[in-house]
Amino acid sequence: MKKLLLKPENVHKGNLILVNKEYPIQEKQGSYDSTLVNLGIRDSEVMMDYVAAKELNRIFTSLACGNDIVPVSGYRSSQEQKQIYTDSLQENGRQFTEKYVAYPGHSEHQTGLAIDLAENSYNIDFIRPNFPKKGICLKFRNLAANYGFIERYPKNKTSITGIAHEPWHFRYVGYPHSALMVSLNQTLEEYMVFTKRYIYTEEPYIYEDGQRQYEIYFVPMVKDEITLDLPKDLPYQVSGNNFDGFILTLKTAG
Ligand code: DAL
Ligand code: ZN
Repeated sequence: MKKLLLKPENVHKGNLILVNKEYPIQEKQGSYDSTLVNLGIRDSEVMMDYVAAKELNRIFTSLACGNDIVPVSGYRSSQEQKQIYTDSLQENGRQFTEKYVAYPGHSEHQTGLAIDLAENSYNIDFIRPNFPKKGICLKFRNLAANYGFIERYPKNKTSITGIAHEPWHFRYVGYPHSALMVSLNQTLEEYMVFTKRYIYTEEPYIYEDGQRQYEIYFVPMVKDEITLDLPKDLPYQVSGNNFDGFILTLKTAG
């Protein structure tokens, strides 16, 4: 067995944290405490969490898409999100801004796990880049979940996400959760409810993909830290949900 220690403050960390109108990002003095890297795509200054950046680059490599897809906006500091919000209020008004720009402190861009992408063109809109459901953008979309990304604000789910349809905004949640959310047609909000049915150490949700098999559990947060005994030889991932617990993933085969 190996021991996994979960501290209450870790509930705000990990690839699956839910950041939306209801749940703000929990930052220490507005600073991001994970590793951010430059995406390294041409002269782009866009930064992301290093694992998300690595997976995004793997998609680009697999598509051999050259300059056809442009990263528009990745990590934003709380100061940058404030500026974008204030500028949009002035330029576009409140109704537009509330649909397309998260309130400062409530943007996934502040986690480093979100990326806005555009189809390359002479004129790229910063808030609503064009990322159509055809051509190279469709190919990206079809591969995204294999590499841990989901389209975060789908068309028919705006009442759940609180944000208008944003076909350009992708969120890294990690595999297999991305693939499972796509197959269940769930947003991150819905998935956070879904995972709660599988309380550790009762029956897990079992996700199978060819030879690979995963067990997914929810570990409720308690006041003090929790120590779990995990099987020694199984790879695992753990992420907080940003409010009341952790999602634990064990790779049981493959
Ligand atoms: N456009 C998304 C909702 C953001 O500002 O985080
Ligand atoms: Zn975005």
